[in-house]
Amino acid sequence: MYRKDFPIFDAPLGNGQELIYLDSAATAQKPNAVIDAMREFYSATYSTVNRSTYYLESLATENYELARAKLADFINADATEIVFTSGATESLNLIADSFLNANLLLETSSWEAENLDLARFKLDAESKIIVTEAEHHADLVPWQQLCKKTGAKLYALPVDSDGVIKTDTVSLKLLHDAKIVALTHVSNVTGAITDVETIVKYARQHAKNAFIVLDACQSVPHIKLNVKKLDIDFAAFSLHKLYGPTGLGVLYAKHEVMKDMPPTKTGGSVIEYVGIDSATFRLAPQRFEAGTPNIEAIIGAIAAVDYINSVGFEYIMSHENDLLEHLLELKNIAQARILGTAAKQNRIGVVSFTLDDIHPHEIGQFLDSKGIAIRVGHHCAQPIHRHFGIPVSARASLGIYNNHDDIDKLLDAVKQVSAFFAQRTARGSGRT
Ligand SMILES: Cc1ncc(COP(=O)(O)O)c(C=O)c1O
Repeated sequence: MYRKDFPIFDAPLGNGQELIYLDSAATAQKPNAVIDAMREFYSATYSTVNRSTYYLESLATENYELARAKLADFINADATEIVFTSGATESLNLIADSFLNANLLLETSSWEAENLDLARFKLDAESKIIVTEAEHHADLVPWQQLCKKTGAKLYALPVDSDGVIKTDTVSLKLLHDAKIVALTHVSNVTGAITDVETIVKYARQHAKNAFIVLDACQSVPHIKLNVKKLDIDFAAFSLHKLYGPTGLGVLYAKHEVMKDMPPTKTGGSVIEYVGIDSATFRLAPQRFEAGTPNIEAIIGAIAAVDYINSVGFEYIMSHENDLLEHLLELKNIAQARILGTAAKQNRIGVVSFTLDDIHPHEIGQFLDSKGIAIRVGHHCAQPIHRHFGIPVSARASLGIYNNHDDIDKLLDAVKQVSAFFAQRTARGSGRT
């Protein structure tokens, strides 16, 4: 129903194939509304923001703040709680870097030490940072680095045999007295939805000073995120997975926390006063947005949020659930193994699979010859692949533009790969 809004499906692929796009978990295609808004900005109203008083600049600045308000509303936050970044990876690094800066500046006579309550971010050898085995590297490596630099200890909540983050009492005990709990809302490998409510409730009781960080990259395009209801301190996501432009991310930080965070990147836009040997900084969120921002992406983000709101999560969820059931028929193909559960409950339309010992790159290449785009590799999530005892997999993921015909073509092509390689193996072993 919404496929017609995405011009990429009208453009023939360079190799003459029709595009079957099943890689929305990596990045989503863009609707006309987003492309047109960005083209219009570049061709008719382009200007910088926050730096002057002329008409176009004022218009762009107004839109910049409108985007902030719309994104805040989209996740039930306040506009003052939204920081624009270059993507989720930068959002997550920003949190870790801000903690590090707080620790470095704690005992100094700096503006930060005098104006912000840095002590609440203190980390030392007694501090625990909790991640999970299901994290994307973007929500794992920054915490490893922070531990290395502050002496804090890193622990991972385990996942069960389906790859779902465990919430049994023994596993949750890890959270006791944690300082940071960083977890993904939805796994980018299994599509499993994390029981965030249970984890947060437990953390609020047993780790009273914990800051809770949610990697919402894979959830925001598919399920309604409500940061207040989930009672989290931070959330990170990228607009390019949300039918919006690349190069723009959101960091949600609860105002009560963000107000004390020291800046990470510095330069123009973040300062109040600059002398030769020191500077003072603006209030949050402006304190975190150094330099000229990605203005055209911000304009595109307004259109993306309006577009998703016009489609509505009710439609998104029912449409994608319907397709998911079809996609999970992958499990019936000879040699196929789905990573995690093959049931459709508590998950979104992200399905990773293997075909015995056929390398995922071979699967990807065969599918590409049919115009089918999927992700192959470790999907930036090596620990969960290791949990499943494999290094890499193939992944098909859904967006609002997919239809049953796409899934039929995928299933048919995967069956062909499976049959082709079964014959090759049989020939190799002398069997017919
Ligand atoms: C769960 C998850 N977290 C973080 C990221 C990083 O997002 P980006 O590359 O847009 O910064 C991704 C992207 O694949 C993801 O799927």
